[in-house]
Amino acid sequence: MEAIAVMTSGGDSPGMNAAARAVVRTALYEGVNVYGIHNGYKGMIKGDIQKLDSRSVSDLIQRGGTFLGTARSKEFQTPEGRQKAFNNLKEHNIDGLVIIGGDGSLRGGAAMSMEFGIPIVGLPGTIDNDVWGTDYTIGADTAANTILEAINKLRDTASAHRRIIAVEVMGRKSGWLAMTTGIAGGAEYILVPEVKFDLDEMCHELRESYDRGKRYSIIVVAEGACDAIGLGTVVEEKTGIDTRVSVLGYIQRGGSPTVEDRMKASMIGEKAALALLSGVTNKVYGFDSGKVVAIDLFDAVNNKKTLDPELVRLARVLA
Ligand code: F6P
Repeated sequence: MEAIAVMTSGGDSPGMNAAARAVVRTALYEGVNVYGIHNGYKGMIKGDIQKLDSRSVSDLIQRGGTFLGTARSKEFQTPEGRQKAFNNLKEHNIDGLVIIGGDGSLRGGAAMSMEFGIPIVGLPGTIDNDVWGTDYTIGADTAANTILEAINKLRDTASAHRRIIAVEVMGRKSGWLAMTTGIAGGAEYILVPEVKFDLDEMCHELRESYDRGKRYSIIVVAEGACDAIGLGTVVEEKTGIDTRVSVLGYIQRGGSPTVEDRMKASMIGEKAALALLSGVTNKVYGFDSGKVVAIDLFDAVNNKKTLDPELVRLARVLA
């Protein structure tokens, strides 16, 4: 291979920079040219492609976001869009591609691999931690720590006022962020899309616990579980307890990556580049029980990751 390219796609996540940096520096170390594609598949279609050197990725490892920029592209979902994108890669003599992104972005890579036979290696980059085959995705740890910090603060004010606070966290259709931060933050209730919940029962229990003297309660709500604002109104009506809602929003997607995100992103970034250079294709590099694993790209995009039932059980026991 003479040149490879790296891009970030979909929602940004802290540690994407560390991963891209590792890909770039590994390729250069191996004597191979590296290009950066700006703004995901949108940039690939436009030909927004730039040669990178070692300096291009300095002063980045500590930064959230992605220096390459990212986007969600409707045009890439069409065969014409993908053809344009592929033509631009050929124009730069790019022989292989590392895609850092969530399942939608990896699905785009699978389509390119099938249609054009271009070697593709993926890195799971999303705060949602919802990519099949890996128990780790780049950015989820940082996002979880940001959420946890917010929950700690919300506990102070909830306790001061004897309120219920419902905090909505991201995750799209996955409850991993809510479940993990709910357990770590000591939430009384954790509502996730994967598990049915009984609103009446929850409100009844909340009322009873207040009557027994409880000062406050925290409900962590995954955005995919229900509308947190609406939930807050119903909970207040049904319990008669002052209830507030805090929607964390994009705060949880930014910020300097944690040690875990920097280390793991660097480790799988190097592996992805080395794999691509040695002729490997259609793999996603992730972690399973602390060890780096290579997952088949098509398996990763065709299977749905489920929420660990052990976490669901633990949340019930500890609430
Ligand atoms: O996939 C990451 C994520 O932050 C989800 O948790 C959220 O639902 C979504 O992206 C928001 O996407 P956008 O930034 O495109 O609105």
